[in-house]
Amino acid sequence: MTTPPHHAHPPVAHPTTGWSPATQVVAAGRPARTRGNPLNPPLVFSSTYHSTGTVTPEEFLYTRMDTETWHPFEQALADLEGSPAPAVVFSSGMSAIAAVLALVPAGGRLVVPRHAYQVTLGFAADLHTRLGVDVIKVDIDDTDSVLAACHDADVLLIESPTNPMLEVADLPAVIAGAKQLGVTVAVDNTFATPLLQQPLTLGADYVIHSATKYLSGHSDVVLGVVVAADSEARAPIHAYRTLHGAIAGPMEVWLALRGLRTLAVRVREANANALYLAHKLQQHPAIAHVRYPGLPTDPGYTNATATMSNYGAIIAIQPHGDAATADAIIDALTLWTPATSLGGVESTLERRRRFGTESPTVPENLIRMSVGIEDKHDLWNDLNAALTRVVSASRPHEQE
Ligand SMILES: Cc1ncc(COP(=O)(O)O)c(C=O)c1O
Repeated sequence: MTTPPHHAHPPVAHPTTGWSPATQVVAAGRPARTRGNPLNPPLVFSSTYHSTGTVTPEEFLYTRMDTETWHPFEQALADLEGSPAPAVVFSSGMSAIAAVLALVPAGGRLVVPRHAYQVTLGFAADLHTRLGVDVIKVDIDDTDSVLAACHDADVLLIESPTNPMLEVADLPAVIAGAKQLGVTVAVDNTFATPLLQQPLTLGADYVIHSATKYLSGHSDVVLGVVVAADSEARAPIHAYRTLHGAIAGPMEVWLALRGLRTLAVRVREANANALYLAHKLQQHPAIAHVRYPGLPTDPGYTNATATMSNYGAIIAIQPHGDAATADAIIDALTLWTPATSLGGVESTLERRRRFGTESPTVPENLIRMSVGIEDKHDLWNDLNAALTRVVSASRPHEQE
């Protein structure tokens, strides 16, 4: 099976234009349709603005506070995630996460997935050490245990699908349950993008993106963004950015908006490639285990089918053999690029436990694959050749 089944949750159209997200990524954040205006927003390099007398909030003053080059991207993200308040762009995904986690008070309680981006978990550990924050780690696909951990919590940070284990939460149930308990809910939507799920429309307070990944999409930018549910929720995030100064450079934001224009086609192609490859990998004798929420046998399939409009383009595989076998497979590839990060047009992969800081419950031989938009047959041929070469080199001493 290589075509996605019907999904319960198609992406939500824009409330005023009625445009689908595939149209919004192309049309959002354009200058006014006035004769002589540029089609694309101008890129402004200026740290300061002409200003005299009383300071007014409507006026640009100083670029750490606000600059027009951010606005089109911030507006586009707000539209895509379904927020009435402009998004807040940051210098990286981590500075966006830091802004949201600053909502946890000293001595407060934070609930995070057991598997999540390792630096996010490192940040949570730092909050514990420095500020005595009680950090509870949960299996995000076990709704009852997530909600049990949410009692007396200040913030629940969800990743779904998780990095790199690809667990998928029952997002509507988890968000609704946590909100009922009075918990602030933030969803790192980096893997799914707003084209596959829109957590704010399910009641989340914040959506976070590493815009470094799919939103910009060309592995040439490091950037982050927080989208708040409304202007009240936005206020502390915006204040944090001005205070801490983790601002994005204008060039990065301009590039991210340029990348965003093709998000829908990139996501569509990469998702279709991933589904194709996940099925092929599952049948390959060199592979012991494939995690991809689009496989009907995957533990995340039911939740993903119910809550996402497609399954994403990240696959996690475990070959038969140990970490050295996984490394040998990666080294034998000629098209796939061995590299960290994900979400670019090019297919990349890495063995996550090569980082000493990766969660110890991630298997040593797990390879996280970010599927790009190359021809799917070329991608498969490269993988198949590398897998076959490594398997035949290991015979007759083949080990489990
Ligand atoms: C899911 C997820 N969230 C956040 C981040 C951090 O983003 P950045 O590297 O842009 O700081 C990453 C980076 O890999 C990620 O994968």
